[in-house]
Amino acid sequence: MTSLRNTEPTLALAAEPAYSAGDVVVVAPAATRAKSAPESQARWAIEDLNLNSVDLNLAAADDDLACLVCAASFVESGSALYAANLAEHFSDDENIVRWLDERWESDELRHGRALRAYLEKAWPSFDWQPAFDSFIGEYSKLCSTELLEPSRALEMAARCVVEMGTSTLYRSISEQAQEPVLKRLAWEIAQDETLHYKNFLAYFKQRNADEGRGRWAVCGALIRRAWELRADDADIALRHVFAHRHPEWTPEDIKAARKRVNLVARRKLPIQLASKMLLKPLDLPPAAQRWIEPMLTRATQIAVSRF
Ligand SMILES: [Fe+2]
Ligand SMILES: [Fe+2]
Repeated sequence: MTSLRNTEPTLALAAEPAYSAGDVVVVAPAATRAKSAPESQARWAIEDLNLNSVDLNLAAADDDLACLVCAASFVESGSALYAANLAEHFSDDENIVRWLDERWESDELRHGRALRAYLEKAWPSFDWQPAFDSFIGEYSKLCSTELLEPSRALEMAARCVVEMGTSTLYRSISEQAQEPVLKRLAWEIAQDETLHYKNFLAYFKQRNADEGRGRWAVCGALIRRAWELRADDADIALRHVFAHRHPEWTPEDIKAARKRVNLVARRKLPIQLASKMLLKPLDLPPAAQRWIEPMLTRATQIAVSRF
């Protein structure tokens, strides 16, 4: 997240799509979200999802997609670890700390609870808690402020990459889900992640007005975080999903399933949207954007294919 010291974040961007996808739904006014907006002001609630209507046949028809959803539920439910690190990193900016505490963390944890609640309907025999506990035992060792960009502005730019990744991943899940409750849930989460992206982008711009980091520095931060996205979180989460969902699997089974789930994750990934979102923090002139966007789209395709 970005922070601009002692300045109420300008969230005008949150009211204007940062990219041209016309289907983004912005419900809560940005200025309201940035103040104190706990659960009562969330865009949606778990109770809205009608979990009792989950179609078990449709849910069971795509186990690879459900494994991906379960991995996402672990990472989302571990958000408190990230939130604490980010709040510490931005402790000089109370506006950002407040937004992280009251909106961002609250959203991420609700995503985790909602995905868990969905899985408990879709996979009634799966014991989510022990699987999550084993995941968090490994994952918590990787969450450290040392992994954040030392520059507050650059960390905000890097957070845009993470939110771009989640926003486009949930769009992909929603697009291919046949089960209606999952389709809606993934869509709602994707909208939240897009709003997070817009807030981080606005905070980045504010913070960078002070820090004055140039495009090369910003580009470096984006590339570093994009590179990290490939590796850890999803990989660790999937390993723990497989170990508890299919304890009988051999290492070869797990390797094959990992490949299949990766394919599912990128099957409907909106690559062009992802590259537009990646470009935003660079604030390139329109002519340069037109020139670089096709290359970035191709680079994003290549990067995603290596996940
Ligand atoms: Fe999330
Ligand atoms: Fe998010």
